[in-house]
Amino acid sequence: MHPHILVFDSGIGGTSVLAHLEHAVPNATFRYVMDNALLPYGLQSQETIIKRLSGLVKPNQPWSESIDLIVIACNTASTQALDALRKMTTIPIVGVVPAIKPAALQSKTRHIALLATPATTSNQYTHNLIREFASDCQVDLHHSTDLVRLAEACFWQNTTNETEIIREIQRLSISPYVDQLVLGCTHFPIIARQIKSALGAQVSLLDSGAAIARRVMHLLGSSGKQICVNKKGLVYYYATKPIVHSNNSITDVLNIDLS
Ligand code: DGL
Repeated sequence: MHPHILVFDSGIGGTSVLAHLEHAVPNATFRYVMDNALLPYGLQSQETIIKRLSGLVKPNQPWSESIDLIVIACNTASTQALDALRKMTTIPIVGVVPAIKPAALQSKTRHIALLATPATTSNQYTHNLIREFASDCQVDLHHSTDLVRLAEACFWQNTTNETEIIREIQRLSISPYVDQLVLGCTHFPIIARQIKSALGAQVSLLDSGAAIARRVMHLLGSSGKQICVNKKGLVYYYATKPIVHSNNSITDVLNIDLS
Protein backbone atom coordinates (compact mmCIF):
# COMPACT_ATOMS: atom_id res chain seq x y z
CA MET A 1 0.00 0.00 0.00
CA HIS A 2 1.25 3.48 -0.82
CA PRO A 3 1.70 5.92 2.09
CA HIS A 4 -0.98 8.46 2.91
CA ILE A 5 0.29 11.65 4.50
CA LEU A 6 -1.52 14.67 5.95
CA VAL A 7 0.46 17.92 5.71
CA PHE A 8 -0.78 20.90 7.70
CA ASP A 9 0.01 24.61 7.81
CA SER A 10 -1.86 27.85 8.48
CA GLY A 11 -1.48 28.68 4.77
CA ILE A 12 0.78 27.83 1.87
CA GLY A 13 4.01 27.81 3.92
CA GLY A 14 3.79 24.04 4.28
CA THR A 15 4.15 23.64 0.52
CA SER A 16 7.87 24.40 1.05
CA VAL A 17 7.96 21.18 3.13
CA LEU A 18 5.57 19.34 0.80
CA ALA A 19 8.07 19.84 -2.06
CA HIS A 20 10.71 17.89 -0.09
CA LEU A 21 8.15 15.23 0.85
CA GLU A 22 6.97 14.74 -2.74
CA HIS A 23 10.57 14.28 -3.78
CA ALA A 24 11.31 11.80 -0.96
CA VAL A 25 8.05 9.81 -1.15
CA PRO A 26 6.78 10.32 -4.72
CA ASN A 27 4.17 7.57 -4.56
CA ALA A 28 2.43 8.97 -1.45
CA THR A 29 -1.05 10.45 -1.47
CA PHE A 30 -0.88 13.83 0.25
CA ARG A 31 -3.71 15.75 1.88
CA TYR A 32 -2.50 19.33 2.22
CA VAL A 33 -4.65 21.20 4.76
CA MET A 34 -4.39 24.96 5.35
CA ASP A 35 -6.18 26.85 8.10
CA ASN A 36 -6.18 30.10 6.14
CA ALA A 37 -9.30 31.33 7.96
CA LEU A 38 -7.04 31.95 10.98
CA LEU A 39 -3.89 33.02 9.14
CA PRO A 40 -1.50 34.31 10.47
CA TYR A 41 -1.00 31.71 13.19
CA GLY A 42 1.87 33.83 14.49
CA LEU A 43 -0.71 36.12 16.08
CA GLN A 44 -2.96 33.37 17.47
CA SER A 45 -2.97 32.12 21.06
CA GLN A 46 -1.67 28.68 21.98
CA GLU A 47 -5.18 27.69 23.09
CA THR A 48 -6.66 28.59 19.68
CA ILE A 49 -3.95 26.71 17.77
CA ILE A 50 -4.41 23.56 19.88
CA LYS A 51 -8.17 23.73 19.30
CA ARG A 52 -7.77 24.08 15.52
CA LEU A 53 -5.24 21.25 15.32
CA SER A 54 -7.65 18.98 17.18
CA GLY A 55 -9.94 19.43 14.14
CA LEU A 56 -7.39 17.49 12.07
CA VAL A 57 -7.90 14.30 14.08
CA LYS A 58 -11.64 14.49 14.64
CA PRO A 59 -13.72 11.72 13.03
CA ASN A 60 -15.38 12.12 9.62
CA GLN A 61 -12.72 14.25 8.01
CA PRO A 62 -12.05 13.10 4.41
CA TRP A 63 -8.73 11.60 5.56
CA SER A 64 -9.84 10.14 8.93
CA GLU A 65 -9.74 6.48 7.92
CA SER A 66 -6.60 6.42 5.86
CA ILE A 67 -3.82 8.64 7.21
CA ASP A 68 -0.49 6.96 8.10
CA LEU A 69 1.33 10.05 9.24
CA ILE A 70 0.71 13.72 10.03
CA VAL A 71 3.28 16.40 9.24
CA ILE A 72 2.69 19.70 11.01
CA ALA A 73 4.53 21.79 8.41
CA CYS A 74 4.26 24.93 10.52
CA ASN A 75 6.85 25.98 13.08
CA THR A 76 4.29 28.06 14.96
CA ALA A 77 1.80 25.21 15.34
CA SER A 78 4.55 22.68 16.13
CA THR A 79 6.20 24.73 18.86
CA GLN A 80 2.81 25.62 20.38
CA ALA A 81 0.73 22.49 20.02
CA LEU A 82 2.67 19.34 19.13
CA ASP A 83 2.59 17.82 22.62
CA ALA A 84 -1.16 18.45 22.94
CA LEU A 85 -1.90 16.98 19.49
CA ARG A 86 0.13 13.85 20.21
CA LYS A 87 -2.14 13.19 23.20
CA MET A 88 -5.21 13.22 20.92
CA THR A 89 -4.20 10.53 18.41
CA THR A 90 -2.09 7.43 17.91
CA ILE A 91 -1.15 8.48 14.35
CA PRO A 92 2.58 9.35 14.24
CA ILE A 93 3.18 13.10 14.00
CA VAL A 94 6.25 14.87 12.66
CA GLY A 95 6.58 18.54 13.59
CA VAL A 96 8.70 21.25 12.03
CA VAL A 97 10.83 23.20 14.47
CA PRO A 98 13.45 25.89 13.73
CA ALA A 99 16.79 24.53 12.49
CA ILE A 100 18.76 25.98 15.43
CA LYS A 101 20.95 22.90 15.86
CA PRO A 102 22.36 22.75 12.27
CA ALA A 103 22.76 26.54 12.27
CA ALA A 104 24.87 26.41 15.46
CA LEU A 105 26.91 23.51 14.09
CA GLN A 106 27.68 25.39 10.86
CA SER A 107 28.27 28.87 12.24
CA LYS A 108 31.82 30.17 12.04
CA THR A 109 31.10 33.57 13.57
CA ARG A 110 29.15 31.92 16.44
CA HIS A 111 26.47 34.51 15.79
CA ILE A 112 23.23 33.20 14.32
CA ALA A 113 19.70 34.53 13.99
CA LEU A 114 16.20 33.10 13.92
CA LEU A 115 13.58 34.66 11.66
CA ALA A 116 10.13 33.34 12.55
CA THR A 117 6.64 34.39 13.61
CA PRO A 118 6.08 36.31 16.88
CA ALA A 119 4.51 33.19 18.43
CA THR A 120 7.60 31.08 17.59
CA THR A 121 10.25 33.57 18.74
CA SER A 122 8.48 34.11 22.08
CA ASN A 123 7.78 30.43 22.68
CA GLN A 124 9.43 28.47 25.49
CA TYR A 125 10.00 25.50 23.16
CA THR A 126 12.17 27.72 20.92
CA HIS A 127 14.09 29.10 23.91
CA ASN A 128 14.77 25.53 25.07
CA LEU A 129 16.08 24.62 21.58
CA ILE A 130 18.48 27.58 21.75
CA ARG A 131 19.64 26.68 25.26
CA GLU A 132 20.17 23.04 24.30
CA PHE A 133 21.84 23.41 20.89
CA ALA A 134 23.25 26.93 20.58
CA SER A 135 24.38 27.91 24.08
CA ASP A 136 27.81 28.92 22.76
CA CYS A 137 26.37 31.20 20.06
CA GLN A 138 24.80 34.61 20.13
CA VAL A 139 21.27 33.97 18.85
CA ASP A 140 19.26 37.00 17.70
CA LEU A 141 15.49 36.62 17.46
CA HIS A 142 13.58 38.43 14.70
CA HIS A 143 9.91 38.10 13.92
CA SER A 144 7.73 39.22 11.03
CA THR A 145 4.13 38.63 10.05
CA ASP A 146 4.49 40.87 7.00
CA LEU A 147 6.81 38.32 5.41
CA VAL A 148 4.10 35.66 5.88
CA ARG A 149 1.64 37.90 4.04
CA LEU A 150 4.18 38.60 1.28
CA ALA A 151 4.93 34.88 0.85
CA GLU A 152 1.19 34.14 0.56
CA ALA A 153 0.85 36.84 -2.12
CA CYS A 154 3.94 35.54 -3.95
CA PHE A 155 2.47 32.03 -4.02
CA TRP A 156 -1.12 32.78 -4.96
CA GLN A 157 -0.71 35.85 -7.15
CA ASN A 158 2.52 34.68 -8.71
CA THR A 159 4.04 38.12 -8.32
CA THR A 160 6.74 39.04 -5.86
CA ASN A 161 6.78 42.38 -4.16
CA GLU A 162 10.57 42.52 -3.97
CA THR A 163 10.64 46.12 -2.72
CA GLU A 164 8.38 45.34 0.22
CA ILE A 165 10.38 42.22 1.13
CA ILE A 166 13.65 44.17 1.06
CA ARG A 167 12.10 46.99 3.14
CA GLU A 168 10.89 44.49 5.74
CA ILE A 169 14.31 42.76 5.92
CA GLN A 170 15.97 46.16 6.36
CA ARG A 171 13.51 47.04 9.13
CA LEU A 172 14.56 43.89 11.01
CA SER A 173 18.21 45.12 11.14
CA ILE A 174 19.80 41.67 11.08
CA SER A 175 23.40 41.96 12.32
CA PRO A 176 26.13 41.80 9.65
CA TYR A 177 27.99 39.34 11.93
CA VAL A 178 25.24 36.71 11.56
CA ASP A 179 26.44 33.96 9.21
CA GLN A 180 23.47 31.54 9.57
CA LEU A 181 19.88 32.72 9.38
CA VAL A 182 17.32 30.13 10.41
CA LEU A 183 14.08 30.45 8.44
CA GLY A 184 11.86 29.34 11.31
CA CYS A 185 8.60 29.77 9.43
CA THR A 186 7.72 27.51 6.53
CA HIS A 187 6.44 30.49 4.54
CA PHE A 188 9.90 32.02 4.30
CA PRO A 189 11.61 29.49 1.96
CA ILE A 190 9.04 30.61 -0.65
CA ILE A 191 10.69 34.07 -0.66
CA ALA A 192 14.20 32.86 0.27
CA ARG A 193 15.78 34.24 -2.90
CA GLN A 194 14.52 37.75 -2.11
CA ILE A 195 15.53 37.49 1.57
CA LYS A 196 18.99 36.33 0.56
CA SER A 197 19.46 39.12 -1.95
CA ALA A 198 18.45 41.67 0.71
CA LEU A 199 21.02 40.26 3.16
CA GLY A 200 24.02 39.46 0.98
CA ALA A 201 26.30 36.51 0.34
CA GLN A 202 27.81 36.30 3.86
CA VAL A 203 24.60 34.76 5.27
CA SER A 204 23.44 31.19 4.70
CA LEU A 205 19.72 30.51 5.02
CA LEU A 206 18.60 27.31 6.71
CA ASP A 207 15.22 25.63 6.86
CA SER A 208 13.99 22.26 8.09
CA GLY A 209 12.34 20.85 4.92
CA ALA A 210 15.00 18.27 4.00
CA ALA A 211 15.34 17.04 7.60
CA ILE A 212 11.56 16.57 7.83
CA ALA A 213 11.54 14.51 4.62
CA ARG A 214 14.31 12.26 6.03
CA ARG A 215 12.36 11.78 9.26
CA VAL A 216 9.18 10.92 7.33
CA MET A 217 11.04 8.37 5.18
CA HIS A 218 12.48 6.78 8.31
CA LEU A 219 9.06 6.50 10.00
CA LEU A 220 7.36 5.13 6.89
CA GLY A 221 10.17 2.61 6.41
CA SER A 222 9.92 1.33 9.95
CA SER A 223 6.13 0.95 9.65
CA GLY A 224 6.54 -1.20 6.49
CA LYS A 225 5.14 1.34 4.00
CA GLN A 226 6.52 1.10 0.50
CA ILE A 227 8.33 4.04 -1.03
CA CYS A 228 8.43 3.75 -4.86
CA VAL A 229 10.39 6.32 -6.78
CA ASN A 230 8.81 5.56 -10.15
CA LYS A 231 5.20 6.15 -9.13
CA LYS A 232 3.47 9.50 -8.79
CA GLY A 233 0.94 10.04 -6.03
CA LEU A 234 -1.72 12.71 -5.79
CA VAL A 235 -2.01 15.88 -3.73
CA TYR A 236 -5.43 17.01 -2.49
CA TYR A 237 -5.71 20.56 -1.17
CA TYR A 238 -8.08 21.75 1.55
CA ALA A 239 -8.65 25.21 3.02
CA THR A 240 -10.80 26.58 5.84
CA LYS A 241 -11.55 29.72 3.79
CA PRO A 242 -12.09 29.95 0.01
CA ILE A 243 -9.05 31.05 -1.99
CA VAL A 244 -9.82 34.16 -4.02
CA HIS A 245 -7.74 35.79 -6.76
CA SER A 246 -5.48 32.82 -7.43
CA ASN A 247 -3.09 32.78 -10.38
CA ASN A 248 -1.54 29.60 -9.08
CA SER A 249 -1.90 26.27 -10.85
CA ILE A 250 -3.56 24.86 -7.71
CA THR A 251 -7.16 25.48 -8.63
CA ASP A 252 -8.97 22.67 -6.92
CA VAL A 253 -9.05 23.55 -3.22
CA LEU A 254 -11.76 21.88 -1.18
CA ASN A 255 -13.40 23.51 1.80
CA ILE A 256 -12.77 21.96 5.20
CA ASP A 257 -13.98 22.67 8.72
CA LEU A 258 -11.50 22.55 11.63
CA SER A 259 -13.75 24.14 14.28
N1 DGL B 1 4.01 28.83 8.24
C1 DGL B 1 3.90 29.02 9.62
C2 DGL B 1 5.16 28.72 10.41
O1 DGL B 1 5.98 27.93 9.98
C3 DGL B 1 3.13 30.16 10.22
C4 DGL B 1 2.77 31.38 9.47
C5 DGL B 1 1.63 32.12 10.17
O2 DGL B 1 0.49 31.74 9.94
O3 DGL B 1 1.91 33.04 10.96
O4 DGL B 1 5.34 29.22 11.49
